[in-house]
Formats: sequence, structure tokens, C-alpha cells
Amino acid sequence: MIFAANFKTNHTRQSTQLYMKALNEKLGAKKPDDKVYIFPPSTALDTYEGEFTVGTQNAYPAHNGAYTGEIGLEQLDEFGIQTILIGHSERRELLEESQAKVADKFSFFKEQGFEIIYCIGEPLHIREQGFDSVLKYLLAQFEGIDVDYEKLIIAYEPIWAIGTGRSATVEEISTTHKALKKVINGKPLLYGGSAKPTNIQEITSIVGVDGVLVGSASLNADSFSKMILS
Ligand code: 13P
Repeated sequence: MIFAANFKTNHTRQSTQLYMKALNEKLGAKKPDDKVYIFPPSTALDTYEGEFTVGTQNAYPAHNGAYTGEIGLEQLDEFGIQTILIGHSERRELLEESQAKVADKFSFFKEQGFEIIYCIGEPLHIREQGFDSVLKYLLAQFEGIDVDYEKLIIAYEPIWAIGTGRSATVEEISTTHKALKKVINGKPLLYGGSAKPTNIQEITSIVGVDGVLVGSASLNADSFSKMILS
């Protein structure tokens, strides 16, 4: 299983250092095949020792240059970061990242050999239109994305389940993952959206779920380690 923590705009450099230490103390007990990823905010990127991979939540598709407020490859290289989240719904919606921009980012970081966790997910009004609409919406988020890229992991995160405390149902996850698995050529597929210690076992036992991308419940090292060790 894959357990990925997306801190979003939470934690400082100092609290991330404490978190990594606390988490790593628990990770000795994890199953050897399980993989753990942490995506701290950019200001907390660093070289951390531990049984986990640190990735960036975002970066501009350039080595360096005049991109005010962004970080590029040069800033990631400093800490040996080779993993990136692309296409998160918060970037698509709040920061108005278009599919074309998302695809540009994908191509650039693919070219650099990065491991990419590529996020897709539908809003509530699409879910309410029925499964055909959901699938059509999700498939459009693969436009310009090379699903054959060998270092690709997909994360399905229904927007209405993110940060709401209400995860998608087993049935909803199962049906959606089954359909997605057919188009992603066997790539690992994570579920994200209110995953937490109390529902992790249920979610990870669904056929077609290869792991989770966790927001709120990952912010506390105890809670996230509970999920990994459950
Ligand atoms: P929550 O776990 O807080 O619902 O967030 C999910 C998410 O967006 C992870 O990327």
C-alpha cells in the first residue's frame, strides 16, 4: 500500500522537522512493501532521514527563471526532491490551473524523471449527474497526460469528499476505481478524501485501491502512523 500525506498549507519548517522525527520512530513497524510519501509546504522542503519519500506539492515547470512566487527544478534539486503532486483539485479550482497548464507541468517533470502523483476528481454537481458524467469528467483530466509513464501514480480524490469528513462510500470508490483502472494501464491508484484512522481499513481493502492520499488526518504524526500501521 501507498500512504501519502499532503500537508497543504499546514505546518511550519520547525513543526515538519518534529513531525518527520515522530513519524519515523513509528515507521520501523510498517510492512516492508508499504511506501510512505510526505508532501510538506515548500518552506519545509529539506533533506530528511527516514523511511519515507519527501515530495513537493507543486513547482513551476522550469529549471529557474522569472516566475515570481514559484519554485523550480533548481530549488527542488537542492534537497534531492524527485517526487511531485500534479493536478490537485485545490490548484485546479482555487488557483485556476487549467488542464493545459497541468499537462505542461506533467510533461516537464516527466522529462526530468520525477515520480508523479497525478490527481483527478469531480465536483459534487457532476457526481449528482450520475456515473457516466463522473467518468467523462475524470477522463477529460487525462488530456495531455501520458498514462504510460512508468513513474506515475494516480490519485482519485472526489472534491466533495475532501476536507468534509465524509469519505466516498465503498461502492462509490469501488466503481470509480474499477473504471479508472482500465484507462491507467495498471498504474497504482490511490483514493483521497476524508481518509482517516477510522475508515482506513475499509478503504484499503477495496479492490483497485493501492493506497491513500491524506490531508487532514495526516497532519498529526500519530494519526497518520495509525493509518499506516492499521
Ligand atoms: P482530506 O484528507 O483532508 O479530505 O484531504 C484530501 C486531500 O485533498 C489530499 O490531497
